[in-house]
Amino acid sequence: MNQPQVWDAYSKSYHNIEKNPAGFQFSLLNMLRLNEADEQTILQQTRILDAGCAGGHLHQYILQQRKQKCRLTAFDFSLEMTKIAAARMIKYFNNPLHGQIEDISPQEIENADISIFETHHIDCPLLEKNNYKIFQGDVQSLPQLNENQFDIYISNLVLQLVGNKDQAVQEAFRIIKPGGKIGIVIPVVQGNAPMLSLQQCFIKAGLIPNNAYKPTELENREGLINFMNKHGFKDIICWNQTIPFDLLDIDNNYIFPQFREILEKAPKEQVDQFYALFKQEIQNRLTQNLPFTVEALSLIAKKPL
Ligand SMILES: C[S@@+](CC[C@H](N)C(=O)[O-])C[C@H]1O[C@@H](n2cnc3c(N)ncnc32)[C@H](O)[C@@H]1O
Repeated sequence: MNQPQVWDAYSKSYHNIEKNPAGFQFSLLNMLRLNEADEQTILQQTRILDAGCAGGHLHQYILQQRKQKCRLTAFDFSLEMTKIAAARMIKYFNNPLHGQIEDISPQEIENADISIFETHHIDCPLLEKNNYKIFQGDVQSLPQLNENQFDIYISNLVLQLVGNKDQAVQEAFRIIKPGGKIGIVIPVVQGNAPMLSLQQCFIKAGLIPNNAYKPTELENREGLINFMNKHGFKDIICWNQTIPFDLLDIDNNYIFPQFREILEKAPKEQVDQFYALFKQEIQNRLTQNLPFTVEALSLIAKKPL
């Protein structure tokens, strides 16, 4: 289910979600003290990696926090996502005085001045000049990246999707410098109200079995801390965070890719039943004056010196 093509097809909808991101990543970046100078590193050379970056909605924020003083590398295994990120950053570098998270139109994405190498590196002199690199890659295997390369590795809401989580974290450990930091966020299914509501409606409409989604062992603090310890990370800080998620617009952007795929293949009758149930769920929330809330586990840690 977690295939690049699925995320390619979802990239435009995700782009809508990125206009209004859940917000875990901002706490993560604060905890990583992204805006501080690293004493051991010459400011300009601080190297940051965003693993599974989607349409790159964090990138302007990172650059602004660092006052442009870093080298930002990003990748996603969906090529369509990387094109959106590249187009967004081209627009940003062409007009860096725009202070806000920048929006881009489908036209601007289409017309972005990029070429794509066979290795799926996006080539653009403007991005190069601004120390920004983006490519298509898989967190589980990153032969494109040398060991001990990055001061900060960020991965927001990606690890939960990955088949081989051990391999993904081993790769992260390999490419982070000794003394470098990692920051990750994974959603907690049980604390994820939209996800639970969606699941319930799918189950009631007979679209998935009752036991379709189970929490992984990483979805509790102890499990996640042990996992990162096992892979050599130290100085771990791990916290739960619950925040409102303002995405009640079911028609535009609400259906996550794994659910969307199921709906596309299901008989119309069941799909209609699902939508009726889910609209009712949304209505119930609104009548209680409640937003949907999502919960995630976030973690920062260091690779020992
Ligand atoms: C929920 S989105 C999170 C995106 C982004 N980090 C953010 O903060 O919004 C998950 C992203 O991870 C990407 N992804 C999933 N599996 C991946 C993998 N094995 N390697 C690289 N990217 C992956 C998807 O293409 C998608 O863009």
